[in-house]
Amino acid sequence: MEVICLFFFAMRRIYLDQNATTPLAPEALAAMLPFLSGGYEGRFGNPSSLHADGRDAQAAVDDARVRLAALLGGHPRDLIFTGGGTEADNLAVIGLARARVRAGSQRHVITSQIEHHAVLHAADFLERHEGFRVTRLPVDGRGIIDPEALRGALTGGTALVSLQSANNETGTIQPIGELAALCRENGVPFHSDTVQSFGKQPVRVDTPGAPDAISLAAHKFYGPKGTGALWVRPGLKPDAILFGGAQEGERRPGTESPALLAGMATAAELAVNALPTETPRLAALRDRLWMGIAAHFPAAARNGAWETPALQLANTLNVSFPGVDGETLLIHCDLEGLSVSGGSACMAGSQQPSHVLLAMGRTLETARASLRFSLGKGTDEADIDAALERLAKIFARLKP
Ligand SMILES: Cc1ncc(COP(=O)(O)O)c(C=O)c1O
Repeated sequence: MEVICLFFFAMRRIYLDQNATTPLAPEALAAMLPFLSGGYEGRFGNPSSLHADGRDAQAAVDDARVRLAALLGGHPRDLIFTGGGTEADNLAVIGLARARVRAGSQRHVITSQIEHHAVLHAADFLERHEGFRVTRLPVDGRGIIDPEALRGALTGGTALVSLQSANNETGTIQPIGELAALCRENGVPFHSDTVQSFGKQPVRVDTPGAPDAISLAAHKFYGPKGTGALWVRPGLKPDAILFGGAQEGERRPGTESPALLAGMATAAELAVNALPTETPRLAALRDRLWMGIAAHFPAAARNGAWETPALQLANTLNVSFPGVDGETLLIHCDLEGLSVSGGSACMAGSQQPSHVLLAMGRTLETARASLRFSLGKGTDEADIDAALERLAKIFARLKP
């Protein structure tokens, strides 16, 4: 027994992959449980039913909508609950583009080369199947979109612009206010994938430089997986991309999940309230991790906008290890009890070279030799120091 305990103690896993997903906050779980307990004791009603059980479920959905909208500074009516970040992005790109074309816009969508595939593949779909022209803006070596490139690509008739607020792989933050202003000048709706920003930096829809639509995914901020939201500015109505009932103001059919929504709203409140203390804490831990890596592996290089802290998520560190195969490195990290990611973490297990790093001008070899470390609520100094010890061992084995 002691031997087994010692083995597990030695293998205490360190989770530095919080941009892939986060563990559920206990408070979020507590908010969900009344809707998940079995039998007639639970709050199991269908929010669309007119009887008391249904009204109880609808009240929970309304409560989540009001709380989430308050955190964003928007009206609850303008929030559309979805089955996660991917669906919110798909609904924004396909639903808003189609609605705009029906209202007379050209079949033209602008996005960037470093978007999540939830946006990129939705734009590909419009291009391949619906005759849209898609402009994919390039980025510089830090991963930043040049507003002048957007200005050059915009036409008065562009249906939609979709540009992320922060990148999931590098943590690079875009100049969203400037990009939004250009779209506004041209009368073109601006969607931003804020899936990686919400809970990591302030995300509001009531500030002058705010986008016209934003996407959220609860599991990125200690909420449950499989739920998210698209907020759209009043007056913008995406065409539904799913077909069925009249839920969510006829913008997204399907029975809502009071459990998931209660969990998401609770997690969102916690994440937003923790921002002022978590941001500097995580930035210090991230820098400690980087200094340790650089000491053990002097040729290592950071990817992102790390020279400008305001343009870099506090929790994200993306590093290239020249001469080392990223996949091998990843496997060694896993064996040492270190959860990190390489390439694109949301690629369902496939380690494709990162399209983000390639767009930033990195070679295929460098892109393959890169790892992402993403820190979160539970990460502390002891985790970072233990991670560095394990990395030092791995580097000693693998260094060219
Ligand atoms: C920037 C970004 N957008 C969208 C998504 C997709 O969200 P979900 O996993 O909830 O579908 C992710 C997930 O990694 C993401 O990082």
